[in-house]
Amino acid sequence: MSTLELNKLRKAFGAVANPVVAVNDLSFTVADGEFLCILGPSGCGKSTALRMIAGFEEPTSGDVLIDGQSIVAIPPNKRPTAMVFQKYTLWPHMKVYDNIAFGLRLRHLPKAEIEKEVREALELVHLGDYGDRYPAQLSGGEQQRVAIARALVLKPKILLLDEPFSNLDALLRVRLREELRTIQRNLKITAVFVTHDQEEALSLADRIAVMRKGELQQLDKPASIYATPQNLFVADFIGAMNMFEGKLSGRSIQLGDLALPAPAGAASGEVKVALRPEDVAVTDAAGAWAGTVTQMSDLGHYRKVFVRTPQLGSLKLYLPKSVEVTEGGPLHFKPTRYLVFQGQDKPAEIHL
Ligand SMILES: Nc1ncnc2c1ncn2[C@@H]1O[C@H](COP(=O)(O)OP(=O)(O)O)[C@@H](O)[C@H]1O
Ligand SMILES: [Mg+2]
Repeated sequence: MSTLELNKLRKAFGAVANPVVAVNDLSFTVADGEFLCILGPSGCGKSTALRMIAGFEEPTSGDVLIDGQSIVAIPPNKRPTAMVFQKYTLWPHMKVYDNIAFGLRLRHLPKAEIEKEVREALELVHLGDYGDRYPAQLSGGEQQRVAIARALVLKPKILLLDEPFSNLDALLRVRLREELRTIQRNLKITAVFVTHDQEEALSLADRIAVMRKGELQQLDKPASIYATPQNLFVADFIGAMNMFEGKLSGRSIQLGDLALPAPAGAASGEVKVALRPEDVAVTDAAGAWAGTVTQMSDLGHYRKVFVRTPQLGSLKLYLPKSVEVTEGGPLHFKPTRYLVFQGQDKPAEIHL
C-alpha cells in the first residue's frame, strides 16, 4: 500500500524579488497502484515537480507525503522512491549486473539475495542474458530497460519516471511503454510518469495531471480529459480540436451566419466553441454546414478530411471510411457534440 500526496507544493528559482515559479501550489493524490502521468508543454514544471518528490530539489513551500508521512526532510537516497531519467544514466564502467546490484550492495544485502533480486529484475525487463555486458554494448532501448530494472530492484514505494523513452525512436517508444505498463500492473507499484507527449499520456495513464506554467489545469482519466477538457488550454493541448469564436445571444450561438444551439441559461456574450474532428455527422439535412474538401487521407480505420467553409475557414474532421468523400468535392455535415467556453467558466457540453 503506497499513496503519494502533493500538498501545495511550490518551487521558485532565482532571486526572491524576481523568482521563476517553476511549480505553483501543486496539489494532488496518487492512489495505491495508480499510474499517474504528468503532462504538459516543455518548461511547465513537470521535472521540477518530480525532482521534489525524489528529493533532488527542495520545495520552496508545501509538502510531499508518502503513505501519509511527510518525506521532505528525508535525503533522496533514503526516500522510498526510485527515479528513471530521460538520459541513460548507467555507470559506463560497470556491467549491467553491477549497475543493477549497486543500490542493493549499498543496503548491505546478502550476496545470494542480491543475486536473486538482480536476476529477477533482469528477467522482468527481458534482459535475462545481458548481465555481463557493459552499457556501451547495449542499444538505447536496452539501456533504458536496465535503468528501469535498477529502479525496480530497490522496491520503491513510488516509481518516478521523467520522459524515460523520449530519446528512443517511435516504434521502440511504444513497445517499451507497453512493457513498462505491464510490469507496473503486475507489481501493482504506484508510479508517476512525466511526459510532454499527449499520446503517451493518453495511452499509459490511469489518470493524467495536465500542467501549464507550473499549475495544475486538470486531473482526470484520459477519456474525461479528452471528452471534457475543463479549460481552453486543455481543450487546445489535448487531441485535435476545431475552435471557433462565436456570439451567444438568447438560445443560439452565431458563428458568422451559421448557428448552433446555446447552452440553457447561458449569459449573452463572446464564446468559444470547441468541436472534436470526430463529433460531426455527414448529412444533407436542412441547416447542414457546407464546405469543400481540400485534403483527405486514409488513416487505418478512419479518414482525415480537411474541409473549407466560407464562414469558419478550414476544419479538420475524422470521418468513417463508409462516408464517400472526394478531394475538391462538396461536403455537408453537422456538429453532433461540442463544448462552449465562456470566460473562465467550465465549458457546457452540448449533444445534438
Ligand atoms: N535549476 C533551475 N534554476 C532556474 N530555473 C530553473 C531550474 N530548473 C528549472 N528551471 C525553470 O523552471 C521551469 C520549469 O522547468 P522544468 O521543471 O524543467 O520543466 P519541464 O520538465 O516541464 O520541461 C522552467 O522555466 C525552467 O527554466
Ligand atoms: Mg522536464
